[in-house]
Amino acid sequence: MVGPGAREHALVRSLAADPGVTKLYAAPGNPGIAGLIGERNCLPVDTLDPQAVAALATDLEADLVVVGPEAPLVAGVSDAVRAAGVPCFGPSAAAAQLEGSKAFAKDVMAAAGVPTGASYACTTLEEVQKALTEFGAPYVVKDDGLAAGKGVVVTESVDAALAHAAACLDREGGRVVIEEFLDGPEVSLFCITDGKTVLPLAPAQDFKRALDGDLGPNTGGMGAYSPLPWAPADLVDDVVENVARPTIEEMARRGAPFVGVLYCGLALTSRGVKVIEFNARFGDPETQVVLARLSTPLGMLLRAAAVQHLEHVPPLEWLDRAAVTVVLASENYPDTPVKGDVITGVSDADGWPDAWVLHAGTAIEEGDLVAAGGRVLSVVATGEDLTAARTTVYAALERIGLRGGQFRKDIAEAAAAAELTERLAHPAVPSES
Ligand code: AMP
Ligand code: GLY
Repeated sequence: MVGPGAREHALVRSLAADPGVTKLYAAPGNPGIAGLIGERNCLPVDTLDPQAVAALATDLEADLVVVGPEAPLVAGVSDAVRAAGVPCFGPSAAAAQLEGSKAFAKDVMAAAGVPTGASYACTTLEEVQKALTEFGAPYVVKDDGLAAGKGVVVTESVDAALAHAAACLDREGGRVVIEEFLDGPEVSLFCITDGKTVLPLAPAQDFKRALDGDLGPNTGGMGAYSPLPWAPADLVDDVVENVARPTIEEMARRGAPFVGVLYCGLALTSRGVKVIEFNARFGDPETQVVLARLSTPLGMLLRAAAVQHLEHVPPLEWLDRAAVTVVLASENYPDTPVKGDVITGVSDADGWPDAWVLHAGTAIEEGDLVAAGGRVLSVVATGEDLTAARTTVYAALERIGLRGGQFRKDIAEAAAAAELTERLAHPAVPSES
């Protein structure tokens, strides 16, 4: 497992539960992952150095390498691992451009007929100005390259839009994408693919803004839940047929087959489902809730994609449970997160019934667990419905102490209410027994 965060911790947790997986190594892992697989199995490596990762995989005689974050993918880690003869779950550098360049993704979508917002890729402020005027407010300005979820500004202020565009253009090779504003709820759908077959996981919803009520700056994600009781029944089929499959086919046609997980970031607009973004990896924190519900063995699934046998995988199986995750972030996240504060109560929270704690930015310092990043922990809970999962996740989170720590109190709140409304409108028919 390549990567350091809570998404990787969630993946390792599910891989460890797969009876077919006999040995797990993480590079570099984190203190939470070390707690699962042993500190000796967490190996320091420069995950942006493709040859170093490939050499490690060869040394370990790995049957499968799973790449978590986008930066190693864009750097070509999967290409090097595959060239060394080791199956790899994660797209090539060429295919990862679906995430690495928003302009490239737009070009693929146009060629594949995938619905997305109208947009212009701009390299000068004059072009930016023209595009902003054409689309009107709210303005959507996106850095073309990777920006860890922080390259996008959505604003009513033309000055703020121009300022962000100018900052992006100032960078070496700077390019920005100006996009039409898409209204409607957002959904993340992960599609596992071997470059031909597409297997969707359960949809999830992410909370990108830092503060309750979707206020504050964009972050990497402050919480997530699954399933989505309010989503149209045909959502997954619709996205597979009209978004994922045409995109995967277009990538194969371009000689850059996509092997791994295509993360479809969608807006459910009044004019249908539209793509907000593609990512070339699992989402963080959505993965935490999707995997909490998946009962199909994960190692088998990811290896089948890596060795291009996905068509032989039986239909995926899901627990009939809801899952919610809430991210505990450090003081001043996302601007200048404060590091080094001691975290208490983690084992208490982790031992809470139906809850567990995944590590994102933590470290061990002088025997203490301390905050070492912006997003520190991801607490996950399951329950018979979203209301139950919410109650449990917040009860577990209450056990944890971190000076200045912040988390959203409204993760899955509206969805839990929608679930209730749905149940009142369509009461379950009692089964005969
Ligand atoms: P991205 O990195 O492209 O996912 O953008 C981050 C967030 O900005 C998204 O999750 C949306 O909340 C918002 N966003 C991006 N593009 C648009 C758009 N065209 N219309 C409305 N909101 C958007
Ligand atoms: N949760 C958003 C992302 O992983 O990009």
